[in-house]
Amino acid sequence: MSESSAPVGVFDSGIGGLTVVREIERQLPHERIIYFGDTARVPYGPKSPETVQRYSREIADWLVGEGVKAIVVACNTATAHALPMLREYVTVPVIGVVEPGARAAMRNTISNVVGVIGTAGTIASGAYERAIHAIEPRAMVIARACPLFVPLVEEGWLDRDATRLIAREYLEPLAEAQVDTIVLGCTHYPLLAPMLAKIARPGVQLIDSAAETAAETRRTLIQRNLVAPSSNGAPAHRFVASDDPDHFLRVGQRFLGAAIDRVEKVTLG
Ligand code: DGL
Repeated sequence: MSESSAPVGVFDSGIGGLTVVREIERQLPHERIIYFGDTARVPYGPKSPETVQRYSREIADWLVGEGVKAIVVACNTATAHALPMLREYVTVPVIGVVEPGARAAMRNTISNVVGVIGTAGTIASGAYERAIHAIEPRAMVIARACPLFVPLVEEGWLDRDATRLIAREYLEPLAEAQVDTIVLGCTHYPLLAPMLAKIARPGVQLIDSAAETAAETRRTLIQRNLVAPSSNGAPAHRFVASDDPDHFLRVGQRFLGAAIDRVEKVTLG
């Protein structure tokens, strides 16, 4: 098998990274994807950088063993803590979600006052601030951890009063600073976007890094001559979970926007 027909590996702490798979499918329709969701060890958000790095290394080892030609880290927390390490650790190209999200935000902002929301780990890492300041050193970044959003999304509470109340509280410092752009710095938040758009001040743009990450994956594959040759029919993806594949099957469709036929179980660590 030539290198370009090898699959693209995508991983996340759980199911949320399927929002990135959805965009890769749209922008790179011939790519075969192996998706690994670490459902046994989710959430990564509250875990230490060292732990998230260890998990990320184990998943990267497994994906490379399966013959992937590139790895997309769809998890914001894993990108924030482990991207530089992974880029040194494996020989295939590694694409994360933070830089693409920061780029999309800076393309959109007019005031250079930008909000970032994410898990506790992502926000504590300062990864978004660094990525934004690398583009525009004078930008003002208001970052806020929103740890209650992930469980609310997993429960499917996308448009409930309780979720709106929590969101108002989380977004208050961003509204006070008058951000004109908010980066949804977590795999789960795009599902809250319709509700967040109603709560944010009029005109505030919400940035979902999935589309920009897929675009970066496409650029990387083109640069390295790794784009899959066109195939007849949709390529067969593999979905792998480290625990509870049935839950993945049920909830995954909400994130992927399409049915999933089968989920394999692989235990790591
Ligand atoms: N995938 C994580 C992220 O994007 C959210 C879920 C978790 O905390 O593991 O940061």
